[in-house]
Amino acid sequence: MKEKILELLTECSDYVSGQDICNRLGVSRTAVWKNINILKEEGYQIDSVNNKGYKLLAEPDRIDAPRIQRYLHTRWLGNSICYEREMDSTNTQAKRLGENDAVNGTVVVTERQTAGRGRRGKTWVSPVGNCYISLLLRPEILINRASVITLVSAMALAKAIKQVTSLDTMIKWPNDVIANGKKLCGILTESSTDLEYINYVVVGIGINTNQTEFPEEIREMASSIRLETGAKTNRAELLGSFLNTFEQYYETFLKTEDLSELSEEYNRLLINRGKEVKIIEQEQERILRAVGIDQKGGLIVENERGVQETIISGEVSVRGLYGYV
Ligand code: BTN
Repeated sequence: MKEKILELLTECSDYVSGQDICNRLGVSRTAVWKNINILKEEGYQIDSVNNKGYKLLAEPDRIDAPRIQRYLHTRWLGNSICYEREMDSTNTQAKRLGENDAVNGTVVVTERQTAGRGRRGKTWVSPVGNCYISLLLRPEILINRASVITLVSAMALAKAIKQVTSLDTMIKWPNDVIANGKKLCGILTESSTDLEYINYVVVGIGINTNQTEFPEEIREMASSIRLETGAKTNRAELLGSFLNTFEQYYETFLKTEDLSELSEEYNRLLINRGKEVKIIEQEQERILRAVGIDQKGGLIVENERGVQETIISGEVSVRGLYGYV
């Protein structure tokens, strides 16, 4: 009934009387009053005036399923959205669902994580105001093709951020989304496999969206969309746009199981392209020039004599010569 009351209040730009709500929904005045209070507790700002009724002033800033669905035009991605205000980690939750027959395209989303995980076993600190989302995918592809999905996600993120906020971002290979030299988004891809067969892939994404403060030790290399644009972002719109774009790119990838139709666009976004990068491999450092990515998502680098080789993600770390990018 709470949802129905909300629908009535959203449809009407003026006050709706309590009696009117009772008549239209066939419920008692007490039930209306109780549900209005529940909505207020959930963060809806509802003005109640004697003899006039109720008026919706503002909705809580949430990234729950109904809000994301307003912006969603996908065919299969996000048909099932699992939302909770707080989770340990959306990746952990998506993996649990993955073990339990949840469908391809299930999306897990939360406002804050208590045990957010980053790459290389790091913690992903996850305060309220940002986006934390994981996609459960069941691609029927060879295991060694799955790592490309992370690059596809980074492209979709860059495009969605541009669409919704006008902010230009670039990608630090393989998958950090960067604005003005600082990291805005991180992606953690995890998969469950059985011999040659992929059971599921979970792509987890953290977008520093409306965060305004960063701890001293990461201030030099991390930022948020809010800090870069000066404006608050509608997170549901951003996630809707991301899911719409991801579905398109992902289907393009599935056609060939590589980046042949996407690498040109990725390379345009690649911040390292044409620049010298430091390749760190088992404590050994080499300086090479980044040329671009190949169809499998590897980074092509060349030495001063023009001899090229391909760096595989996960095996090495790539840095700029003077810091993070
Ligand atoms: C990185 O280290 O750059 C990757 C960070 C990935 C963080 C996201 S937030 C949503 C999802 N759930 C997690 O626990 N991690 C990923």
